[in-house]
Amino acid sequence: MAFPRLVSGIQPSGKLHVGNYLGVLKNLHTLAQSHSYDCYFFLADLHSLTEPYSPEEKKQQILQLAADFFAADLDPQTCTIFQQSTVESHTVLSWILTTITPMGELRRMTQFKDKSTGADDDSVITNVGLFTYPVLMAADILLYDADVVPVGDDQLQHLELTRAIARKFNGRFGDVLREPRPLLTNTPRVMSLRDPQKKMSKSSPAGCLFVDDEPDVISQKIQAAVTDSGTGIAYDPLTKPAISNLIDITCGLTEETPTALVNRCAGMSYSQFKTVISQDIVDALTPHRTRKKALLDDPDQIISWVAAGSERAEEVAAAKLDVVRRVLGIALEF
Ligand code: TRP
Repeated sequence: MAFPRLVSGIQPSGKLHVGNYLGVLKNLHTLAQSHSYDCYFFLADLHSLTEPYSPEEKKQQILQLAADFFAADLDPQTCTIFQQSTVESHTVLSWILTTITPMGELRRMTQFKDKSTGADDDSVITNVGLFTYPVLMAADILLYDADVVPVGDDQLQHLELTRAIARKFNGRFGDVLREPRPLLTNTPRVMSLRDPQKKMSKSSPAGCLFVDDEPDVISQKIQAAVTDSGTGIAYDPLTKPAISNLIDITCGLTEETPTALVNRCAGMSYSQFKTVISQDIVDALTPHRTRKKALLDDPDQIISWVAAGSERAEEVAAAKLDVVRRVLGIALEF
């Protein structure tokens, strides 16, 4: 029996933080290790071009993210790990899908609304890519007949649109595209260490733990994290949002239950608690950091794994695109 097909991508757009790691990468690792899915994971480099970047930085970001994938033990033999821009069928299908996607649907997307500034000055243009972003994402998914797509909750709306596009396509051209299901992680949202009401984000680095932060940097950031009023270590996101966020981060990484961690830290001061969890977090992230460093000693190996993955992906994608071209009537075979 064939395994369900799983497709997911991450944008190479900066250092990976613990929110990305817990929200997506660690989940991909678990799913891949379960050996019950046929996994396609990619570096969504085309999507990342919609945000400002420098070419030299972009190259590094792609290499670094590829290293993160392999450091997270995603096996290049059993998972197809590839770079989106090198599998050109993505952009062809994306164009085709734009021709059946209503503008109104794209205008409704909250990510687009958040990212379009309205002010088209030179530094922050609302580029067309930000608008058609979800259509490229639909192509990424539909090209592989994905059954499930692991995403963070911020991408659910895009996945709903992917399903709507598939239905619309099928209604017009026959049953060709498979409607995928989202797969949410059970890791709650990771919030900023400096403000537990805001999502952890690389744009405020002080409140952000990066997966490659050295142990002393992790300890400093945790010691400087905001705490709640009162004393006592308890898990209650409503009345103790800051401490609960620290518990979520720690437990997400170590897989200890919040209750066990709270019991272990009963009676401690906030500062003692921070010392304990700094150590837990360092211990949990060190293997990833060490593996990643070792992998980056040999960038050519990383590049060749990704290239092999892209070749495998291209075969699957090109076959699907052929079918699409045929049903659209643009394949010239009589
Ligand atoms: N938009 C996703 C994000 O920013 C990345 C992405 C691009 C993706 N294409 C995808 C995720 C296809 C899942 C499937 O997180």
